Amino acid sequence: SKTPVRVAVTGAAGQIGYALLFRIASGEMLGKDQPVILQLLEIPDEKAQNALKGVIMELEDCAFPLLAGIEAHSDPMTAFKDTDYALLVGARPRGPGMERADLLAANAQIFTAQGKALNAVASRNVKVLVVGNPANTNAYIAMKSAPDLPAKNFTAMLRLDHNRAASQIAAKIGCAVGDIQKLCVWGNHSPTMYADYRFATVNGKSVKDTINDHDWNANTFLPTVGKRGAAIIAARGLSSAASAANAAIDHMRDWALGTNGQWVTMGIPSKGEYGIPAETMFGYPVTCEGGEYKIVEGLPIDAFSQECINKTLAELEGEKDGVKHLL
Ligand code: NAI
Repeated sequence: SKTPVRVAVTGAAGQIGYALLFRIASGEMLGKDQPVILQLLEIPDEKAQNALKGVIMELEDCAFPLLAGIEAHSDPMTAFKDTDYALLVGARPRGPGMERADLLAANAQIFTAQGKALNAVASRNVKVLVVGNPANTNAYIAMKSAPDLPAKNFTAMLRLDHNRAASQIAAKIGCAVGDIQKLCVWGNHSPTMYADYRFATVNGKSVKDTINDHDWNANTFLPTVGKRGAAIIAARGLSSAASAANAAIDHMRDWALGTNGQWVTMGIPSKGEYGIPAETMFGYPVTCEGGEYKIVEGLPIDAFSQECINKTLAELEGEKDGVKHLL
């Protein structure tokens, strides 16, 4: 059987952690033949460490055949040792009265430390996915703090936005969500993201032609996908967790095992594609093969799309400026 791989997860005792760890351990992320060792990180706080102990007890009680080891950590320097995959979920949420600059600064501190730890101790091929918000900027900070690791190993999660967009389109057309292909989401994981179905197909037919309603696109679809996170908080009283964990599994599985030519969305460091400044952590359409992602290039960008892309890029540049002095 295969050698176990090491999967580090931060914020492991949080909501998303609780929806994520059991699925990783059951083989849904890396395959039903791939044993995993979970290296779980939580803050040193006693309550968090106790909660983590409880999650580990439950993981043990699942008796997952693929779970080759579980470790609890309070320091990224030990949590990330030799790790092959790192899911950075834990982040500082916005507290009452906290300004945007405070939020950026608190997270810059976390992701600088974690980037440095990855740089020092992780596998040189580590695949990093940042889920904790602001996800793109946190991923950018971690990447900049890990100069000895390839920049392409750092990614941010746009997959939840991608999946939300697919679900809205399927409901509009009345088709199965699995029949939709070639969808993508450009930019930041925030309400400014641009979910783009101009190239999408449903059973081989153009989604855009099938819907044929620009007003629905601009005034219903994009705001619905963009504000979906807030709608879930309003309904559930808590932020999306199971769907976020599911998107993290999708992102890592597709990156590691490939997409068979299908498009997915990943937040990745730009190399200037589509006019996005280099190093910007930007949502792009990609395909994955052999453990590498590749941007779908050469797509025409019309005026409406360019306007949307400019808006989400401007927001990301603003976040980047806001943390520049902290790097
Ligand atoms: P949560 O508050 O339930 O759990 C977060 C956990 O992270 C807590 O247990 C906390 O102790 C831990 N933590 C905080 N700082 C840490 C650090 N420096 N090292 C290790 N652990 C740390 O939050 P939840 O619901 O699990 O969400 C986690 C993050 O994911 C949030 O930032 C949220 O905004 C983000 N998110 C991102 C989505 C995306 O699509 N990119 C979608 C949904 C949520």
